Amino acid sequence: MTYNIYFEPIGHLVSGIKGDTIYTTSIRSGISLGSICGGKSSCGRCKVRILSGRCSPITKNEKMHLSEEEIRDGYRLACIARILSDLKIMLPQITLAQPRLQLKGIEPKIEIDPVISLYNLKLSEPSLENPLPNWENIVKTLDKHHNLRNLKIDIHLLRDLNSIIQNLKREVSVSVRGNEIIGICNKREKHLGIAIDLGTTKIAAYLVDLFTGETLKVRGIVNPQIVYGEDIMTRISYAMKNGVKDLRLAVCKNINDLIRDFLKNLKNIDEIVIVGNTVMHHLLLGLPVEQLGKAPYVPVIRQAMDIKARDLGLNMTPLAYIHLLPNIAGFIGSDHVAMLLATEINKSKKNTIGIDIGTNTEVALSVKGEISSLSCASGPAFEGARIKHGMRAAKGAIEKVNIKNSAVSYKVIGDIAPIGICGSGILDIISQLRQEKIIDHRGRLQNHDLTRKTDNGQEFVLVLKNNSGITQDIVITQNDIGEIQLAKAAIRTGINILLNDFGITEEQIDQIIVAGAFGTFINIESAVRIGMLPSIPLNHITQVGNAAGIGAKLALISKQHRSLANKIANKVKYNELTIHPKFSHEFSHSLQIP
Ligand code: FES
Repeated sequence: MTYNIYFEPIGHLVSGIKGDTIYTTSIRSGISLGSICGGKSSCGRCKVRILSGRCSPITKNEKMHLSEEEIRDGYRLACIARILSDLKIMLPQITLAQPRLQLKGIEPKIEIDPVISLYNLKLSEPSLENPLPNWENIVKTLDKHHNLRNLKIDIHLLRDLNSIIQNLKREVSVSVRGNEIIGICNKREKHLGIAIDLGTTKIAAYLVDLFTGETLKVRGIVNPQIVYGEDIMTRISYAMKNGVKDLRLAVCKNINDLIRDFLKNLKNIDEIVIVGNTVMHHLLLGLPVEQLGKAPYVPVIRQAMDIKARDLGLNMTPLAYIHLLPNIAGFIGSDHVAMLLATEINKSKKNTIGIDIGTNTEVALSVKGEISSLSCASGPAFEGARIKHGMRAAKGAIEKVNIKNSAVSYKVIGDIAPIGICGSGILDIISQLRQEKIIDHRGRLQNHDLTRKTDNGQEFVLVLKNNSGITQDIVITQNDIGEIQLAKAAIRTGINILLNDFGITEEQIDQIIVAGAFGTFINIESAVRIGMLPSIPLNHITQVGNAAGIGAKLALISKQHRSLANKIANKVKYNELTIHPKFSHEFSHSLQIP
């Protein structure tokens, strides 16, 4: 039996099967509920408000995640509440808020040297004396004037070859990639490429002129796989239960939309370079990901790959190629390689840390030309998960906080009444609470004018209900502080273990490069104060924006950088953090707030 399920305020009417959870129905309909646990009823992020209709009775587990006020208002966890009639459901503002995407990054100046070379030819007419096929004519001319041998041609191009040459009156521009002719066009035609950073949360795409290196357009969208879970492990769980097809098709569809949004004439796109973490890479290719979710986390493939766009179902000329940069390990993907490429850490003579903070934080340390990298499970706390009033960096999120002599001030994204706190705001709060001695070095909240006792322990009141955009006070609980301590300790442990393995100390670090969306918006001073980053002079720490996207662009416009990416991937020594003998000691030490 099916019922009508109406989702407000987005106005989606979908059909729900009796007894199914609201969560399952929303996934089937492509509606994101912000789940982190993938429907396992542990993250508390799938809150929805039932405006009318009947669901299964509320459970004990739901009561643990919902306040009394929320229960009175009809809130339920979508992954527990089962459909028993037609329903009208309201999605909370926090679920609907679109995360802020960081697209820009600092780009080094490089020589443009794309993988495609262009040759302008004037082809002779065939005659009875010399009935040379067009294809052979091109091959002979390229051999004679440009010394190109062993050329091949794609069947799709061969089918249209004669008509193209005829339309262009035998004056053609031939695009050659390696030993393959991938295009024949007018010599005035533009040759474009797209660099894509395929992130777990967002997809950033850059339309680039392959021969000038100019970035013509930039677009960012939320990764549509987010409806299947917000982090990598939830997506792996979904793929283990349901296969990888849904995840693959969702991302391919959105890449197609991005391409179409960039330009109508798809035949002008000759090449796409894609980087991402190893799970995103595997899901795009439709490769199994189950093994990436358990030790020893072995990828199906690490090497760089060239694939025809048509084989991935991307809507471009069937001749165009997708190039995927190499992965390093199960939790260090080609986005890390791209980050190293863009930040030129591999060239640095200084002791340099490169860090991209996210649910998994990748850290690289370069000392005298040697690079070691590792991945720290920093968890989703910086994305606002497992934090009582946490949310992604979206409209309505408190992103900066200042506490001075018991006076609290804050800045909200979009300058509206706050509805939650995002990662950068939470970092500020912990730093300020410690500075004002409202928490001790173990993170324990002290008795203070700004704290209050509740049944679940002390909490810090950041915004009173009257000033917030929700029906509650916005608070930081003892549990929230614990979650941030775990996240920052994971990152600092990774850094300390790399320093230890190279035999250098914190004082010997010359510079830290912070990449990625989260790293762009954090207050570096707060990150240093709470001990997440080593205490070096603040002007030696640089925030570089989306370095992975920039690395993808470099590999798009430079053959040399593409081969450098392979060298970097081979050169980087991968460290598995969790089996390191010093892991436990470093981790418990890093939990403290200095
Ligand atoms: S608690 Fe429902 S999806 Fe996590």
